[in-house]
Amino acid sequence: MKNIVVLISGRGSNFVAIQETALRENWAQTLGAKIALVVSNRPDAKGLGLAEGYGIETAVIDHKAYATREAFEEELARVVDRAQPDLIVLAGFMRILTEQFVNRFAGKIINIHPALLPSFKGLDTHQRALDAGVRMAGTTVHYVTPALDSGAIIAQAAVIALPSDDAHTLADRVLEFEHKLYARAVKACVSGRVRCVNDRAVMDDDTARELTLFGNV
Ligand code: GRF
Repeated sequence: MKNIVVLISGRGSNFVAIQETALRENWAQTLGAKIALVVSNRPDAKGLGLAEGYGIETAVIDHKAYATREAFEEELARVVDRAQPDLIVLAGFMRILTEQFVNRFAGKIINIHPALLPSFKGLDTHQRALDAGVRMAGTTVHYVTPALDSGAIIAQAAVIALPSDDAHTLADRVLEFEHKLYARAVKACVSGRVRCVNDRAVMDDDTARELTLFGNV
C-alpha cells in the first residue's frame, strides 16, 4: 500500500476533498494508496477531527512547544517517517519547511497555493491579485523546494476574477477548484504519472490535460 501523509494547520477542506475522492474512487483498490496519517502543527485544527471521523491516524506536533524550527522539524520528520510516506501533501500547512526537511523527502512533498504561480507567492494572494486587476486568478499544485512557492508546477486551475469580487468571494471560487485540482494531482503523483525530474514535473499530455482546469463561472 502506498502511504499518503497530509500536513494541515486548520480547516482541512483540501484534505477532505482528497479523502472523499479516495473513497469514491476506491483508491485502496484502484491505486493501492491511502491517506495513512494527518499531522497538524496546531492542536485546534478543525481538520484533525475530520480525519478522526474517517478513522485516519492523526498526530499533533505543536510548533510552539519547540524552541527552534529545527527541533520542531526533527519531530515532524520522525512522525512522518514512521508512516513510510510515498507522498507528503501540504494542505493549508502554514509552516515554512527548512532545506533540511525538504531535502530529506526530496521530490515527495507537494503543496497547493491559491494563485497562478509564479505570480503572487506568499500570503494574502486573493487581495493582491484583485489589486493587480487580474482577469484570471486560480490555484497551483507544485513540488515543494526550499524556496517558498517556487517548486516545479504540477497542476493549475485558472478561475475568473469578476469585477464584483472581493478577496472572500474570489477565495471561495478558487477553493472549489482547489478541491478538484488537488485530488487529481495527488492521484497522478501517487500513481507515478507525474514525477519530479531535474526540477520539472514530468508527465504525458493526457495527464497534463487532466491537471489543467478552467473555470469562468
Ligand atoms: C487553501 O486555500 C490553500 O490553497 C492554502 O490554504 C488554504 C487551506 O484551506 N494553502 P484548507 O485548510 O484546505 O481548507
